[in-house]
Amino acid sequence: MTENIILKDDHNEFKFPVVVGTENEKGIDISNLRSETGYVTLDPGYGNTGSCESRITYINGEKGILRYRGIPIEELAQHSDFIEVADLLIWGSLATKKMRERFTALLTDNALLHESLKHHFEGFPFDAHPMAMLSAMVNALSCYHPVLALPQNPREIEEAAAILISKIRTIAAFSYKMSRGEPFIYPKAKFSYAENLLHMMFSLPHEPYEVHPEVKRAVDLILILHADHEQNCSTSTVRMVASSGANLFASVSAGIAALWGPLHGGANQAVIEMLEKIHSGNMDAKQCIKMAKDKDSGIRLMGFGHRVYKNYDPRAQILKELSKKVFNVLNYEDPLLDIALELEEIALKDSYFVERKLYPNVDFYSGIIFRAIGVPKNMYPVFFAIGRLPGWIAHWREANENKKSRIARPRQIYTGPAKSNYVPIEQRPDRKP
Ligand code: CMC
Repeated sequence: MTENIILKDDHNEFKFPVVVGTENEKGIDISNLRSETGYVTLDPGYGNTGSCESRITYINGEKGILRYRGIPIEELAQHSDFIEVADLLIWGSLATKKMRERFTALLTDNALLHESLKHHFEGFPFDAHPMAMLSAMVNALSCYHPVLALPQNPREIEEAAAILISKIRTIAAFSYKMSRGEPFIYPKAKFSYAENLLHMMFSLPHEPYEVHPEVKRAVDLILILHADHEQNCSTSTVRMVASSGANLFASVSAGIAALWGPLHGGANQAVIEMLEKIHSGNMDAKQCIKMAKDKDSGIRLMGFGHRVYKNYDPRAQILKELSKKVFNVLNYEDPLLDIALELEEIALKDSYFVERKLYPNVDFYSGIIFRAIGVPKNMYPVFFAIGRLPGWIAHWREANENKKSRIARPRQIYTGPAKSNYVPIEQRPDRKP
């Protein structure tokens, strides 16, 4: 029997149906709210708003559960690789060997950039942030693949996905090379996805970069852990842009821009900057925690807290272990890891963080691993974007296939001035800055 929620005002009673998800999470379907009652809901930051029904990723933030297409992240982290996970997210089930080989071949075919597209890099200053370049270059892909920008059928979606997933890695590596004034290094067909990314970033024409198998695995694992996270800010951006009918490349480009912010994918860079500040002696871990608790300081404990997780982020747990493993195989030491562990220990015992259920999130330990591998700070969000891309593609596809989809267009409660009249310029009072 359908469950309903009753809403009453002084005169009337309205009934709204409840939609129940696979794991019994419940949402009130208010699509007729305004037409029936004249009211809209007000939910800044959308903390209580379900923007869509989705079959891609399940999160239980209270229990710290994350599953892609039903499969726990811990199992994927243990058994799978990034390309298999990308395929799973986009198509909904694990690929057979034949399907997998087909997708790998498509990725290999699409690894290079059009030579004209390569010249776009020359238009950027050498110190341009790689996220700006990434967003611009992904958008530019729509000029080079106009037919596939709005893929219509599964074959076209597969090809468009391969173009994006393969070329984003080449764009990322080339933007790194640009920033260093080094020549571009081309991908090798025999290398795996993560291996090629590291090869294109760190090899030099006279000196190939030997990718340590554990480092390759670590990068692959980091990409898996970032591959989707349901309706986060960048994914919601992709879905919102897609809702206007915008093409896949433009929608993903907007997602990259949303991801760049320090409260989202830019947090991994911000975490390391915070740890560096502590290390340089500007403050100690206790002072940092004290400032993070003080609302007037404007400082937050970066890499801590999450809109959905009110428990330890399962991705942070895996990354914490991974950081120790990578340090071990590389025989590497970093005082920043000790500082991070100390910050975590203090925060998890502090009533401010305990009461607000603030735990380390995915960004708390990822930067420490990137640092060990030699990835510069401004490239951390780029790695996040490469990882998140399959999720964006899956959501773009899901949004486009939903026949009930409408353009995303929220309402507002207007609180500006009531109707007033135009004042000639010589009669206007001074405006306070
Ligand atoms: N340090 C100090 N206080 C915090 C923090 C933090 N990192 N995060 C949340 N709070 C406090 C916040 O001040 C508020 O306190 P009060 O109830 O007294 O006003 C309370 O906790 C709830 O916070 P909120 O801002 O309402 O929570 P939100 O769901 O809107 O924000 C968040 C989530 C991730 C933006 C936030 O926790 C944050 O800014 N964290 C630091 C940045 C970060 O690590 N971002 C990466 C997020 S995970 C990966 C991703 O999505 O990209």
